[in-house]
Amino acid sequence: MTDYSADMSVHPDVSAHFDPATNTISYIVKDPASDACAIVDSVMDIDYAAGRITYEHADALIAEVKKRGLTLEWIIETHVHADHLSAAPYIQDRLGGKVGIGENILIVQDTFGKIFNEGTEFQRDGSQFDALFKDGDTYMIGGMKAFAMHTPGHTPACMTHVIGDAAFVGDTLFMPDGGSARADFPGGDAGVLYDSIQKVLSLPDEMRLFMCHDYGPNGRDIQWETTVGEEKANNIHVGGGKTKEEFVKFRTERDATLDMPKLIIPSLQVNMRAGEVPKDKDGRPMLKVPVNGL
Ligand SMILES: [Fe+2]
Repeated sequence: MTDYSADMSVHPDVSAHFDPATNTISYIVKDPASDACAIVDSVMDIDYAAGRITYEHADALIAEVKKRGLTLEWIIETHVHADHLSAAPYIQDRLGGKVGIGENILIVQDTFGKIFNEGTEFQRDGSQFDALFKDGDTYMIGGMKAFAMHTPGHTPACMTHVIGDAAFVGDTLFMPDGGSARADFPGGDAGVLYDSIQKVLSLPDEMRLFMCHDYGPNGRDIQWETTVGEEKANNIHVGGGKTKEEFVKFRTERDATLDMPKLIIPSLQVNMRAGEVPKDKDGRPMLKVPVNGL
């Protein structure tokens, strides 16, 4: 078992940017002792009906990094998102930094490489990324040590990134009144997700948790920050000591009722390429729709 030792004495400055089009929260995470920062889960804007990509959300992140005089060291993807496109390469071109994702991206690339019938030019070795994290891998953001915790279930490549007393859980957990993310995409597994959630909940109770998504259930305002202690006590899907059997039954039944995310088709094609839009044989940016393929 990997020894995850969180350093609760390090308190990174976390700036959240909510994207109302996809209900995604992107973060700028700054080392309190230097100008170094990381961006977690950026968003590239798409008008899918028009096939038009723009960069308003990414430009806001870039503007903040520049205005505060920060140095971007990492661009972290908690997983291959199915509901929004990553802006990682756009941001990297303007600010530098290394793009990192979980090593199981290879499984995701293999699965969706087949579904989208990608040719041999689509490498399925994770080489589109600068770093592939294994469970327990550590890396530095300025003087802060961060580590990646493998938390699969929503997807095989999901990682929770723990940076001082702040953990970025991706879609492993939602706010306590939102519960958890679906586990029915190819490679997803409700039982595995339950075990991953328990890993996150084994972090210290005071650990700050930052969500990748919030949908404002029951009409409340959008929120993105909670703690391990809060989730353990109150999460509607796993809190209060719910068993794995209860969770798997509930999650499986719920997932069967959910529609596919609106942007899953473009998101997967772009995000499995680290945010690059695929190109056709003439080098033009082009997306596919596999008919009855998902
Ligand atoms: Fe996701």
